[in-house]
Amino acid sequence: MLDIDHLVDIDDLSPEDVKTVLDRASALKSGEDTTQLSQQTLGMLFEKPSTRTRISFETGMTQLGGHAIFLGPEDIQLGHGEPLKDTSRVLSRYVDVVMVRLFDHADLLEIANYADVPVVNGLTDEAHPCQTLADLLTIKEAFGGFDDVQATWVGDGNNVGQSFVLGCALAGIDLTVCTPPGYEMSDAVLERAAELGDAPEVVESPKEAVADADVLYTDVWVSMGQEDKREEKLDAFDGYQVNMDLLSETDAMVMHCLPAHRGEEITDDVLESDRVLVWDQAENRLHAQKGLLVELVE
Ligand code: CP
Ligand code: NVA
Repeated sequence: MLDIDHLVDIDDLSPEDVKTVLDRASALKSGEDTTQLSQQTLGMLFEKPSTRTRISFETGMTQLGGHAIFLGPEDIQLGHGEPLKDTSRVLSRYVDVVMVRLFDHADLLEIANYADVPVVNGLTDEAHPCQTLADLLTIKEAFGGFDDVQATWVGDGNNVGQSFVLGCALAGIDLTVCTPPGYEMSDAVLERAAELGDAPEVVESPKEAVADADVLYTDVWVSMGQEDKREEKLDAFDGYQVNMDLLSETDAMVMHCLPAHRGEEITDDVLESDRVLVWDQAENRLHAQKGLLVELVE
């Protein structure tokens, strides 16, 4: 059982908590652990679209013998003027755990502040801790653990990248980050990583950054809600694409949270190659979140 109120970001978990969730996820995945969350309900509030997060949480609750309710803002009174804090208090009277995907991280904090049940961050503009749990499970499976694993992040320093930085610090994974000027990880995240373990090494050149990597991770250049910044971001990220030329500089396996924008941050031939862990990452969203839900709600 985790001793946390909410999962706002991955660093709400201690290194021991991360191990607990990942071990539980592995046991549920193998079938060795048959824990059920019967009669338990997950409320899922989505302000942005989703394939993996929605389907993996909903399927996870079904497999655990519970139930998940999809709540789009237009489906509920939130989209018609009811405040977040009222929505949060009312949800808490019905469901056992809440998962939210919102644009503004401050809105997540508002929901968590008024909730009497655990609130799990399913992506904000600043963080994606559920993705990080799946990423760590994937790395653990691929490399047999975290010792001696060298990871490199090439791309945008926002939500997925920032939670990955904190997750690597918690797990003891050596991390190098390579972000274009203006799109660096926040100072707060880098400082927090240093508190938790090691801050990542920051390297300017993608080729230099990937040279010793076991894992090369990237994410879209134009995140949801940034469509109006598309042209300036495509310009800024020129040279940061994960393509066969970059892969020829490294033996790393490629990770991506998906969805991928082929031809932008990653090429089709890389994604279709045997150098990717992305499909395991996507599957592991299901197992990692089942581990998390059981540890939060059981
Ligand atoms: N990686 C991830 O969160 O994917 P979705 O946007 O499809 O949920
Ligand atoms: N950075 C991406 C992640 C999607 C899962 C976005 O925010 O759109």
